[in-house]
Amino acid sequence: MSERLVPDSFLWGAATSAYQIEGSPLADGAGPSIWHRFCHSPGMVRDGDTGDIACDHYRRFREDVSLMAELGLNAYRFSISWSRILPEGRGRVNDRGLAFYDRLIDALHAHGIRPMVTLYHWDLPAALDDRGGWLNPDVANWFGEYASVVFRAFDDRVPLWATLNEPWVVSDGGYLHGALAPGHRSLFEAPIVSHHLLLAHGTAVEAYRADGRNAVGLVVNLEPKYPASDSPADLAATARADAYMNRHYLDPVFRGAYPEEMADIFGAAWPSFPVADLERIRQSIDFLGVNYYTRSVTRDDPLALPVRAGRVRQARHAHTETDWEVYPDGLYDTLEWVRGRYGALPLYVTENGAAFYDPPAVSNGRVEDPLRVRYYQEHISAVLRALGAGIDVRGYFAWSLLDNFEWSHGYSKRFGIVHVDYETQRRTPKASARYYADVIRSRGAVLAKQG
Ligand code: BGC
Repeated sequence: MSERLVPDSFLWGAATSAYQIEGSPLADGAGPSIWHRFCHSPGMVRDGDTGDIACDHYRRFREDVSLMAELGLNAYRFSISWSRILPEGRGRVNDRGLAFYDRLIDALHAHGIRPMVTLYHWDLPAALDDRGGWLNPDVANWFGEYASVVFRAFDDRVPLWATLNEPWVVSDGGYLHGALAPGHRSLFEAPIVSHHLLLAHGTAVEAYRADGRNAVGLVVNLEPKYPASDSPADLAATARADAYMNRHYLDPVFRGAYPEEMADIFGAAWPSFPVADLERIRQSIDFLGVNYYTRSVTRDDPLALPVRAGRVRQARHAHTETDWEVYPDGLYDTLEWVRGRYGALPLYVTENGAAFYDPPAVSNGRVEDPLRVRYYQEHISAVLRALGAGIDVRGYFAWSLLDNFEWSHGYSKRFGIVHVDYETQRRTPKASARYYADVIRSRGAVLAKQG
């Protein structure tokens, strides 16, 4: 069945981001990013880990691209580090920074791998943070200038562009709860940051319409919320949680307005935003990237501020090492929900994957990760079901190609389908990588057989 469902043009990829894998963050004239600064601030990242070396991809990218080709990937999603291109965040362009991505893109094409490029995966230039970062109303224009530089340099070889990766995480993790760079904790800042992120997205889309010829979209992390009971309090909490994490970012882009729950969630911290901004945010985009990891069964919890919603742990289901419930049906439900609420635009699953308690080291040249194999089997099956239901899913990207720097968890959580020995930088495809290669080779038929 799936053989007929998965078209030849379907993208089978893996995803990474610049700060998580590249290393050499200041090489060749790059400026520091907020993540460089955050990692070098004591106590912010587990075990004092930093992205100084990471997977050394900056120097080993050719080996990594060959590995992708060996696995049969026909697409690769990566991000560009803004402060490699514009060390001060704006103004002077650093040609050596552009040259790195130029070589990477050429290497991908030489192996028949299509690049999907994310412009912002959380690594704001530190020089812009010194000017207020995502709180500064000018940030959308700074982002637009950066986007234009990169579009002009690479649009001839990049078919798919994503403006932002997961604006919710930037705002919630970086400005509300403070676990991520730049580590602020402010109820009043978070909605402003989200708004500026969306405005930056809209500004980059406008720039793309002027300069670009291919496709531009947005990548969001969606987590479907299911009510723990049908009590009015749980239903209202579920609606708030959904508004805060999911509709907060998609309603403005597709409908030109924030969800009505936002004012209730943020109270006095919810500002009124200019209509002109919302018009700029509501630009037509060519695709939506959906990152899916887990779901939430939600109940009313007056103490869980600001959303007043809590998660009910589903002990009957497996959980990953980050304690995320494994719930493949949520991926299907999410894709269906997007189509129902926002219309039939092309979708990509731009991230999906899991950290598990893998054997910590390679033994006899192998890493057996059966839980991850199963995770991929079940989630890719959900994607095939979505295709079968006529949902326009055009590609799937495993998170992640490599074990890498998992933000405030440092290197303690491994999401890769390829194991990285951080001492030697040796790469070893895990059983999940071999499994994914089989899925790709059979265009999903392997899954149909496993039923
Ligand atoms: C992010 C990745 C991250 C992954 C696993 C996503 O939210 O885009 O950068 O490593 O989740 O936590």
